[in-house]
Amino acid sequence: MELASNYNYKVVKQFAIATVIWGIVGMLVGVIIAAQLAWPALNLDIPWLTYGRLRPLHTNAVIFAFGICGLFATSYYVVQRTCQVRLFSDKLASFTFWGWQAVILLAVVTLPMGYTRGKEYAELEWPITILIALVWIAYAVVFFGTLITRKVKHIYVANWFFGAYILAVTILHVVQGASMPASLTKSYSAYTGVQDAMIQWWYGHNAVGFILTAGYLGMVYYFIPKQAERPVYSYRLSIVHFWALIFTYMWAGPHHLHYTALPDWTQSVGMVFSLVLLAPSWGGMINGMMTLSGAWHKLRTDPILKFMIVSLSFYGIATFEGPMMSIKTINALSHYTDWTVAHVHGGALGWVGFITMGSIYYLIPRLVGEQKMYSVKLIDLHFWVATIGVVLYIAAMWIAGVMQGLMWRAVNPDGTLTYTFVEGVKATYPYYAVRVLGGFMYFSGMCVMGYNTWMTLRRRATVIAPIPALAAAH
Ligand code: HEM
Ligand code: HEM
Repeated sequence: MELASNYNYKVVKQFAIATVIWGIVGMLVGVIIAAQLAWPALNLDIPWLTYGRLRPLHTNAVIFAFGICGLFATSYYVVQRTCQVRLFSDKLASFTFWGWQAVILLAVVTLPMGYTRGKEYAELEWPITILIALVWIAYAVVFFGTLITRKVKHIYVANWFFGAYILAVTILHVVQGASMPASLTKSYSAYTGVQDAMIQWWYGHNAVGFILTAGYLGMVYYFIPKQAERPVYSYRLSIVHFWALIFTYMWAGPHHLHYTALPDWTQSVGMVFSLVLLAPSWGGMINGMMTLSGAWHKLRTDPILKFMIVSLSFYGIATFEGPMMSIKTINALSHYTDWTVAHVHGGALGWVGFITMGSIYYLIPRLVGEQKMYSVKLIDLHFWVATIGVVLYIAAMWIAGVMQGLMWRAVNPDGTLTYTFVEGVKATYPYYAVRVLGGFMYFSGMCVMGYNTWMTLRRRATVIAPIPALAAAH
């Protein structure tokens, strides 16, 4: 297979490999904290290993290391292929790779040490926040610089989604990151009280909307048509749902703050926009699914396509469930329970995880000049182990969540609570054990991917290395 030397595949390959490695690490930490919730003694009384420190390590590792490395790899690949030019600057691209790995390593060290801004998904202290900003500016220059120097007139829709994600994250990061340093390892938010909460969830929800959704829709619009060898079902729909999605997401954040000190009308606005969000989300899901029209038979033999299509199903589930959970009366039951955790992981494991895995499986052989991965059977094995893992994880958390919500609100005829809190915790125990099993299966699938990637890279290295006897003869 031709290795296009006029494209910068080196940085794409670096990020693709980093995605696999950080996926294994982040999911391992996920399994550990899942096990700690079932068996708390597993923190071994070591402060570094306590749940409160490992949980942000998990979320940072899976979102910022696994998730964003996957987005770097795919966006750099797609923007070059669809614009038919090399990346705008190799040096800056290389800086984004090493700078981002430095951010991740700093997170791996500082979070277990307990250094945190205390804001979910924005825990890293101010010096690291500044490094993130620098890397992100370089990312924007490389991505938009490549778009500007493109050789084709049209900007392919996948680039719209990647571009929106890069721009939105810049704004979110700068606004949310505003804080006053007190020392090298401690800072205080620039906002106070309810404004602080509002900024936090404007940021948090848009991190879901622009990182965990828009970026991955960029993958959908390039890799699904490529893998299915079919054009996008409706290009017009892709543009309409793009604008509808990015406009609507920005206003939905208050659904994370129902029944709090946030003014009631703001909560209602958040709920209404969340309900509206169902339409553009399903527009994307349906567009991706329908791209398979006439190619459904390929699902029987192509495990990469299976990853991609099942990811869209989970996207559909998460974006139906989300609007339902944003309805205030439903949120009164779901909030604080494991139902939220089920929703998160339906989206994270099923949607974000699967579309990333499918796209990286597509990319790796092409980056090393191979036809396919070392073993297609192992991709299939990964698919099935991971699918059963997700189902076990989210089914257990759905049941646990609804049960917790119902137990907490149950009252006796005399007005006293029917259950003490600890009875709810006790009833949840079996479901936590099932989650450990589901999570472990999902993690094992990721290890299979690691092995398959390693063997694909190794096979390539073996093929191109000179045969010793011949090399000696020359
Ligand atoms: C082996 C796979 C995984 C396991 C076992 C796992 C387990 C967990 C556990 C136990 C929690 C804490 C829940 C709680 O506090 O009650 C959690 C939180 C979280 N995980 Fe995972 N996880 C996995 C993979 C992932 C992936 C791949 C992503 C994202 C792409 C992800 C994103 C998150 C997020 C965003 C939270 C915070 C949820 C919230 O605050 O409601 N996880 N995970
Ligand atoms: C139409 C789209 C969606 C809507 C309206 C929506 C709505 C919601 C609602 C109402 C909550 C619960 C808030 C609470 O009670 O605290 C929530 C939590 C969450 N959702 Fe979604 N969701 C959507 C799609 C997604 C997708 C695709 C993902 C991808 C992974 C996702 C990730 C999350 C995360 C990480 C949280 C937990 C945040 C936290 O408390 O730490 N959501 N979402």
